[in-house]
Amino acid sequence: METLTTIADVRAWRRGLGGSLGFVPTMGALHEGHLTLARHARQENDHLAASIFVNPLQFAANEDLDRYPRDLEGDSAKLAEAGVDALFFPQVEEVYPQGFTTKVEVHGPLTSVLEGVARPGHFAGVTTVVSKLFFSVQPTRAYFGMKDAQQLLVIAKFVRDLDIDVQVMPVPTVREPDGMAMSSRNRYLAPAERQAASAISAGLREAEARFAAGERDAAALRGVIAATLEREPLLRAEYISCAELSTLRELERVDEAALLSLAVRVGVTRLIDNAWLGVSGGAVPLP
Ligand code: PAJ
Repeated sequence: METLTTIADVRAWRRGLGGSLGFVPTMGALHEGHLTLARHARQENDHLAASIFVNPLQFAANEDLDRYPRDLEGDSAKLAEAGVDALFFPQVEEVYPQGFTTKVEVHGPLTSVLEGVARPGHFAGVTTVVSKLFFSVQPTRAYFGMKDAQQLLVIAKFVRDLDIDVQVMPVPTVREPDGMAMSSRNRYLAPAERQAASAISAGLREAEARFAAGERDAAALRGVIAATLEREPLLRAEYISCAELSTLRELERVDEAALLSLAVRVGVTRLIDNAWLGVSGGAVPLP
């Protein structure tokens, strides 16, 4: 695996390739979730690139940018093992040189609700960096986890709005044996917090079971999750949502594919998870 640190080197590498290129953008601290994206991409493309860049633009001042876990050596070994041909690992100054003032931003409910409320400016930071990564790497297909559902929908939207010639590929969430979604932030949890946090996925599974049994009332589905969380005093729900996919507006009834999602505080750590109702595997109807 080659490690490339400049945009010029990535472009030069790309120019030398024939065939299709899969791309997995990450912020590092890699786990099985990230590696599953890489394995999907490896199977579906002739070449495979990944990036590791902890993007300051998508962190608010009070967030965990400085303590975000970093492990280039461990990550490189995992990516090489997963069949990545080139790792793009730029420094902050390479991506945002002095004087950088451009933003790529999706407007409307898709970015103003849910994570957009809790993390103002976050999605503009994501779409700006993903634009830069796409223009540098020029992939055929880019892989994103359904774990970050709103991010996936926002990225699909900006790619469509700007006619960017990259196929956005959703990959189902990879989970721990107890159902907990894998996340780089799970390592912040103390053992008691980690145990309590399994109620997040348990609540989602319970709501999915009700949906499968015919429940279509959105408030009832949200209520199932709320009741599960309330049994764990260490968890504090920030939102529990049942929303339509195209706009993420809250639903009264679930008649088409929908997203059940929640954000929960566990001590100082903020976790998100979701279930896609009426969607099988990675077959997400993207905006
Ligand atoms: P990061 O949090 O490192 O995640 C990189 C990719 O891995 C995202 O597409 C995310 O949805 C996916 N992922 C994380 N946990 C997963 C899991 N348990 N199962 C499946 N996929 C999972 O998301 C970002 O980085 C950044 O916002 C980025 C897109 C790289 C832009 O900076």
